[in-house]
Amino acid sequence: MSKNVLQEISLFATDLAIKAGELIKHEREQNTLTQTYKSNHELVTQADIKADELITRQIREVYPDHRILSEESSPDSLEQNSGQLDSPIWIIDPIDGTVNYAHGHHQVAISIAYADAGKVQVGIVHCPFQGETFEAVRGQDSLMNGNPIAVSHKRELRKALIGTGFPYDKSNLEPLIKRLRLIVNNCQDIRRIGSAAIDICWVAMGRLDGFYESLSPWDFAAAQLIAEQAGARCGHFSPIPLTASKGLYGEDILIATPELYDELAHLLRSATDRAG
Ligand code: IPD
Ligand code: CA
Ligand code: CA
Repeated sequence: MSKNVLQEISLFATDLAIKAGELIKHEREQNTLTQTYKSNHELVTQADIKADELITRQIREVYPDHRILSEESSPDSLEQNSGQLDSPIWIIDPIDGTVNYAHGHHQVAISIAYADAGKVQVGIVHCPFQGETFEAVRGQDSLMNGNPIAVSHKRELRKALIGTGFPYDKSNLEPLIKRLRLIVNNCQDIRRIGSAAIDICWVAMGRLDGFYESLSPWDFAAAQLIAEQAGARCGHFSPIPLTASKGLYGEDILIATPELYDELAHLLRSATDRAG
């Protein structure tokens, strides 16, 4: 992929994320948040839908041939497209951190990824309430507000601050609690920020030393590229099924500073082994 094309896409996606950020800030200031729940108790507000419409409409206008995988308007299109990233596809979470958003917290992000040639090529995570915009173009430094960022390179698990999250569906929490206990016992502390995209960007810039969770593609597609290009090691602490869609498989994700990755993976696996 030509550098100039990706740069152009990155500028377009950043502009779009900023516009969506203004929209969701305005919606919250108006205090007219209509809240509903999806079938699995997942919260969705009017602002999620409006931001999704804004982003997908503009992508369709500028790139009519590209596919879109968006949490709110086309959550099934990954299956329909058999998870292929070999032709242009946009992967969007219009609001990552909806529960924070609805409770008036600031940890809220708009996540926009662009994939082609089998990989995510551009990732933008914009945090409108915090005034922080993370961006990555494959092959280049990751940036926050235009400045290069890098992982912490922390070496001691004891001093490591680890992020994680919990699913909306609370029917099988036991394995997660086991992992949590091991992490709390062996690391400095744990953070549950409430936006996986922000968690991963915080690993990218060293505010966190590692992050693990099971996620949907739109939660991590953009942030994972940002973390990768900032020096993080990105993978899974459990085996990946052969049929998994390459690059967007979200089970048991682990993203960490490379010095701690193996130890964290081992710790998390040992909790999983004991869970059975
Ligand atoms: C959620 C957030 C949260 C994570 C959940 C996600 P949403 O996304 O990223 O931090 O723990 O797994 O579903 O619903 O706010 O877009
Ligand atoms: Ca999300
Ligand atoms: Ca969302």
